[in-house]
Amino acid sequence: LVGSEMCIRDRGRYVHQPWPRLSRQAHPPCLLRPAETALGTEPAMNSKTDTARNPLDRILVLEMVRVTEAAAVAASKLIGRGDEKAADAAAVEAMRQAFDELYMDGTVVIGEGERDEAPMLYIGEKVGGAPGKGPKIDIALDPLEGTTITAKAGPNSLAVLAAAGEGDLLNAPDVYMDKLAVGPGYPDGIIDLAKSPTENVKAVAKAKGVEPGEIIVCVLDRPRHADLIAELRALGCGVVLIGDGDVAGVIAVTDEDTTIDMYMGQGGAPEGVLAAAALRCVGGQFNGRLVFRNDDEKARAAKWGIEDLDRIYTRDDLVKGDCIFAATGVTSGSLLEGVKYRRNGKMTTESVVMRASSGTVRWIKGEHQAK
Ligand code: FBP
Repeated sequence: LVGSEMCIRDRGRYVHQPWPRLSRQAHPPCLLRPAETALGTEPAMNSKTDTARNPLDRILVLEMVRVTEAAAVAASKLIGRGDEKAADAAAVEAMRQAFDELYMDGTVVIGEGERDEAPMLYIGEKVGGAPGKGPKIDIALDPLEGTTITAKAGPNSLAVLAAAGEGDLLNAPDVYMDKLAVGPGYPDGIIDLAKSPTENVKAVAKAKGVEPGEIIVCVLDRPRHADLIAELRALGCGVVLIGDGDVAGVIAVTDEDTTIDMYMGQGGAPEGVLAAAALRCVGGQFNGRLVFRNDDEKARAAKWGIEDLDRIYTRDDLVKGDCIFAATGVTSGSLLEGVKYRRNGKMTTESVVMRASSGTVRWIKGEHQAK
């Protein structure tokens, strides 16, 4: 099990164990570690062809890390304190302030909720220090992805955002999404949500040159996934169950070190768009289908102009054009180290920032004065 069970007390400090590594054979070319970022990736764009129309300038790419750092540091003070709301509120406030330092005319398209539900970083809110002047940028954000993880000091909570040109991110309503993802190095269209989990596993196994039972799939540990988990286990697959945090869960398919080949199952739609942005930068395929449980959720979709409720979105339907994905670890996990308070009065952070047009992935370690 992964989740709160993965966090053990060790000499008065919380220690996060990485996700379980299941046995597997060789993986197609993968990425997400600095030395490997040029290998096996399929950046969605070519920097030489897209720069003319590109509002995401190079400075903004690095500046985005300040925003996720600020949110992660604020949330880190609440790690293990059992208060999800306080942790989320701290991250939201810090992220909101940090945006104001950036020269951009930003609009939150995926945020903390609708205007009447969220006081800050609500959908439609303008962010950035240059309204009406700076580049027009749409932002998808989750100041604290993994509120429960943070409250319980589990692995893989993140402060995360994606930025793209105006109109380039799907305005996903806050409903569930069926998700299916695979890492880079496979033929286009290898996964298809219209097909069964068995068919998808078999297709990936064939392309990888292994038996279906050697495929390792990450799934959120939820009762709604009982049938999916049973089907995967019947094939002999390794199933890595995570307690929360499917942005990191999806991104795990791009990192050979996680041993995870595929991601499957239902999670938040906003998190699906964020994960798709990361895959657009570093390669990998994603399918998502919105799940509507009642008329209220369907009405939300209509409000955002979504007409085909059964549509299967590919990665590039969810995120178009150039995009930036940035994340800072709040608690340590498979993707990033969490915020750590040092004895010398400093704290350290680890972040990643990626850009689709260049395929560049930067890992940034920060040392900050702990206030
Ligand atoms: P929060 O940060 O909002 O707590 O979301 C955590 C998360 O695990 C997401 O990563 C995931 O997409 C979603 O919740 C799954 O929703 P649910 O907990 O309802 O199954």
